[in-house]
Amino acid sequence: MNSKIKKIIKKKNKSKIVCLTAYSKNFAEEIDKYADIILVGDSLGSVLYNYHTTRKVTLNNMIQHSKSVKMGVKRSLMVVDMPYKTYRNKKEALKNSKKVISNTKCDAVKLEGGNKIKKIVEYLVKKKIPVMGHLGILPQSVRGTFKSKGKTENETFKLIRDAKILEEAGCFAIVLECVKSKTSKLITKNLKIPTIGIGSSVFCDGQVLVTDDLLGLNETNIRFVKKFINLKIFINKGLRKFKYEVLSKKYPSKKYSY
Ligand code: KIV
Repeated sequence: MNSKIKKIIKKKNKSKIVCLTAYSKNFAEEIDKYADIILVGDSLGSVLYNYHTTRKVTLNNMIQHSKSVKMGVKRSLMVVDMPYKTYRNKKEALKNSKKVISNTKCDAVKLEGGNKIKKIVEYLVKKKIPVMGHLGILPQSVRGTFKSKGKTENETFKLIRDAKILEEAGCFAIVLECVKSKTSKLITKNLKIPTIGIGSSVFCDGQVLVTDDLLGLNETNIRFVKKFINLKIFINKGLRKFKYEVLSKKYPSKKYSY
């Protein structure tokens, strides 16, 4: 097993795991100083391309952005989302995840689903492809509104069962998206591998957020998103200054001219 993955698993019950998304080199370089895991998420579809669904994201989109991210990653574990319809069966999943790993040199791939993808995860792991799971809200499967998961006994039972199935299939960690606190606590207690929550309470072993959301670059009113800073203010300040200096011919002065 990859030593970075071993390190992530060892953090369970010791210290929280920090996971953040990145879609390009300059962001990855900064995120790499703080994150244990950098995820090239297919959320890039909505954040960068204004898609209403992650289903429109292609394998080539993921590879292109991941190549850029890789240039900024030195120490974090780099995980890449496998987009919709790229892992419908074992052979397709293997062919496409091999393509992602060989083109981007990432450490692992992330797949959405539970029992349905059990055989696919088992097969990938057998073929030495490290896999991160994803349960709760599955954006690639959602039609209509996003609703939190684990509200009913039946949903809770299914989530706990799916998490165990993914662990037994060989996943090294599982993202829990919008899972009720009680349920994510139960799942986290039940597993040997870490859970990474997004809108799933402090009981998870780690947390992930879309970096553009927490930096205030992407406007969203999703309940779990906390804006840790409003970078737009700083960007505007710099751009306004540039415009002013161009219009007033202050820039470029001699110092900045050949
Ligand atoms: O696509 C993504 O960025 C994700 C995270 C939000 C977990 O899957």
